[in-house]
Amino acid sequence: MCGIIACIKTKGLCTYLLNGLKKEDYRGYDSCGIGFIENEKIKTIKTVGSIEILKNKIKDEEFTIGIGHTRWATHGINNVENAHPHISNHGLFSLVHNGTIYNYKDLKKELIDLGFSFYSETDSEVIVNLLEYEYGITLDVKKAIENVISRLKGTFALCILFCYEKRIYFVRNHSPLILGIGQNIFTLLSDVNALQDEKAYINIDDLEYGYISDDSYQIYKNGKKVKKIIEEKEVEKENKNKLNHVYYMEKEIEEIPSMINNLLNNIKNIDLTKIISQIDNAKKLIFIASGTSYHAALKAQSFFDKEKEVIIASEFYTTKYQIDKNNCYIFISQSGETMDVLKSLEYVKDICNNTLGITNVKNSSLYKNTKSQLLIYAEKEIAVASTKAYINEIMLLYIVACNLKKQNVIYYDDLSIISNERKEKIKNIAKTLKNKNNAIFIAKGSDYFLALEASLKLKEVSYIHSEAMYAGELKHGPIALIEKNFPVFVIGDIKENEYLNSAIEEIKSRGGLVYQFNYDHKNSLSFIKIMEEFFYLAFYTALFKKREIDKPRNLAKSVTVE
Ligand code: F6R
Repeated sequence: MCGIIACIKTKGLCTYLLNGLKKEDYRGYDSCGIGFIENEKIKTIKTVGSIEILKNKIKDEEFTIGIGHTRWATHGINNVENAHPHISNHGLFSLVHNGTIYNYKDLKKELIDLGFSFYSETDSEVIVNLLEYEYGITLDVKKAIENVISRLKGTFALCILFCYEKRIYFVRNHSPLILGIGQNIFTLLSDVNALQDEKAYINIDDLEYGYISDDSYQIYKNGKKVKKIIEEKEVEKENKNKLNHVYYMEKEIEEIPSMINNLLNNIKNIDLTKIISQIDNAKKLIFIASGTSYHAALKAQSFFDKEKEVIIASEFYTTKYQIDKNNCYIFISQSGETMDVLKSLEYVKDICNNTLGITNVKNSSLYKNTKSQLLIYAEKEIAVASTKAYINEIMLLYIVACNLKKQNVIYYDDLSIISNERKEKIKNIAKTLKNKNNAIFIAKGSDYFLALEASLKLKEVSYIHSEAMYAGELKHGPIALIEKNFPVFVIGDIKENEYLNSAIEEIKSRGGLVYQFNYDHKNSLSFIKIMEEFFYLAFYTALFKKREIDKPRNLAKSVTVE
């Protein structure tokens, strides 16, 4: 969700920027652009669509100081005017922005009254003009930036060009930004995944700002220089590429059994004592997450005997959920950068520090800002649709719950390995499903939480409209949808559950197509297998519908806006 890159480099800067944007493209984008300085003039090249189109537009431009951006439309439609970088009215500044400015309308009106004109619908163009205005007063870029920061309400990571200087300025507030350190080169990036030859990096924290030049960098907070820890870049594991797979989603579903083992092997070496007592001493456990991680929390809470509640992050902080200092707040996020989750964390921390962060990304904002942290060890997840991370989030919480109850963790590989024969069956269901516009998933009890995730996965990658519901609710309204050959997926044991059976009869008697997915409910973890099956179902259906499986339309891997 918006990617930022900036660098000063004597040779090959254009390639560096384009490669960096490509490495950030998993964040999701619908337009992109670069900006650079040539003879004290700022130029921009922007396009709707892919980085490939941008590359063709750039041709053989040579420059040594530049910024780049991939935009995921928020303020204003997806067009070239709204794409970044944005230039100030008199061409002094240009910037790329990730985040949302809440008071941009007021600021825009103020600037229009001062004679500024606007050519896009974005909040970002307001920042660049506010900067030019403040520079007109202070005649000092650093002071102008400080004044701008004090006027902005919202979230922002900015990289800024000033046409008369060979420096790139930056600011961060609640949107991710790192400073890469290479051999004789400094860079600015949205995340560590975009690092190229840089061997180390610095995490820029909220309200920090500064600049990079060709031979140095400086970071400030509240007008004072700050010294930061330099982190080593982790050596990439070879499995990042797709190997024999065309799609990351398929590769990542296949990795589920090995990632569970990866988690089990890593967690063995971690002393959980403090976290266990943090949870044990809490009056109530509050799980907070978004999307698939929310579904993981719903499933995982059932492993805990304590009083507990699961809340969607975007609802938690916006409805000002009541905080109790005696509770333990558990935040779950694959990326560790989901804005709704981070906002919820900030909201809790104002009152209570009893927080636990569960994430796949070490040093992510969630990891750094919670009292205690646990990693899910699912290795990098690239496909936008989360699969292996969902399973490992649940697995991790299962391990924590077992430790809490002083029980052994019982896991066998066959709880998660699907036979080729079964895959073929699922492929055949997907062939039928591809011609449908709607589907329903029904279940009873905690299987409903699995149905929610199965339904989300199908809709996000295949674009088939899908709903999940408790089986007994079907007859209270949704049954109106059931007609001949309407697909309904049933999760659960129909032999043991007569209520599930009556729902099935109701569907069949109206001509609906019923697909049953059952598992051994006596084992806490055997649900993993049917979730894998549902992931394959979504994957194959999307494949037959020729969808962009790894990057479904309108979606971003890391949702860094509210
Ligand atoms: C769906 C999906 C999203 C994410 C959600 C939260 O497949 O991936 O629903 O689960 O955006 O993301 P994280 O877990 O990174 O906080």
